[in-house]
Amino acid sequence: MIISRTPSAGSGFVRQGYSMAFNGQARLEQLCARGRDFLGTESAIMGGAMSWVSERNLVAAISNAGGFGVIACGSMGPELLDAEIKATQALTGKPFGVNLITMHPQLDELIDTCLANRVSHIVLAGGLPSAAAIKRAKAGGAKVVCFAPALVLAKKLIRSGADALVIEGSEAGGHIGPVSLTVLAQEILPEIRDVPVFVAGGIARGESMVSYLEMGAAGVQLGTRFVCATECIAHENFKKAFLRASAREAVPTVQIDPRFPVIPVRALTNKGTDAFMDHQRKVIDRFLSGELDQKEAQLEIEHFWAGALRRAVIDGDVEYGSVMAGQSVGLVTKEQSTAEIIAELVAQAVASLEARAVALSA
Ligand SMILES: Cc1cc2nc3c(=O)[nH]c(=O)nc-3n(C[C@H](O)[C@H](O)[C@H](O)COP(=O)(O)O)c2cc1C
Repeated sequence: MIISRTPSAGSGFVRQGYSMAFNGQARLEQLCARGRDFLGTESAIMGGAMSWVSERNLVAAISNAGGFGVIACGSMGPELLDAEIKATQALTGKPFGVNLITMHPQLDELIDTCLANRVSHIVLAGGLPSAAAIKRAKAGGAKVVCFAPALVLAKKLIRSGADALVIEGSEAGGHIGPVSLTVLAQEILPEIRDVPVFVAGGIARGESMVSYLEMGAAGVQLGTRFVCATECIAHENFKKAFLRASAREAVPTVQIDPRFPVIPVRALTNKGTDAFMDHQRKVIDRFLSGELDQKEAQLEIEHFWAGALRRAVIDGDVEYGSVMAGQSVGLVTKEQSTAEIIAELVAQAVASLEARAVALSA
């Protein structure tokens, strides 16, 4: 995660009778080397794709600041994605990626759109990608990044050709799995050496980055921390909600009946999350009274949140929209430029490495 190309003086210290010069920045560069090489960036910090949020402005700002921005394709079709990629390329000459949702009905066309625009990295998210999708992206020259929710699936994805993995803990904002990054990292990082593994979920400070890098992560992916970047186009209500919120307000959606599964999404509690509980109860009553069959009831439950993220991010409806946010939202305290956010993360990482070196020498 270098930012400055000039190495810091480092903190010299004496241990066991001989003098050693410790340079925190150089150590950080060493820890990040694999991630930086893979991404082609100065820092091994990825900006996790966030639907409606990770568009040209934030993506280009992250890449221009030495990180790796990722466009969230979400439900865009090939034409819109093509325009978004071209607009991002107009704002940055640095590498960036595109995140595609594997269940998108036009996945192949979207992959081809990325390839036609020479996008260097394609991130396949939202479910396990097929080996055919991975092959298609790689055959066109892109590097493929996949999400691995468990060790067995990490190994399977590598066999299918994934060039790198992201492991995302349940602390993260948006759609989440059941396991925290603390545990996933212990399950996966010691076992997977063949490809770089990036870690995501709950990371908002440099100290935390360092701890995962030391465990073997190639780099980190942050989403929540970038929402209040000045370059981020999210509505000011959305940003204000982030600045006000504490970690405990970012909670997964609650499912009230095991017969009607709800995909867990971590978001800030608001009137919309209360209304969702009511909605589930009413739909289940209609199912019990025979008015709806199981499939109809399930669809009614699923439709509740349709368009809700857009309403919050773009229209600023943070009362009833879906204000997706990770637990690290409590650590987002001010609006800052992307460059400042990345510089702060790097400075915290370097300081923590140096503080530990000093402590060891004492
Ligand atoms: C508002 C929001 C929207 C998100 N949308 C997506 C998405 O469309 N695709 C995806 O793969 N991940 C999505 N994520 C997850 C992020 O890419 C990233 O992995 C996550 O935010 C990292 O955890 P953190 O929020 O604790 O930093 C979203 C997260 C947030 C907060």
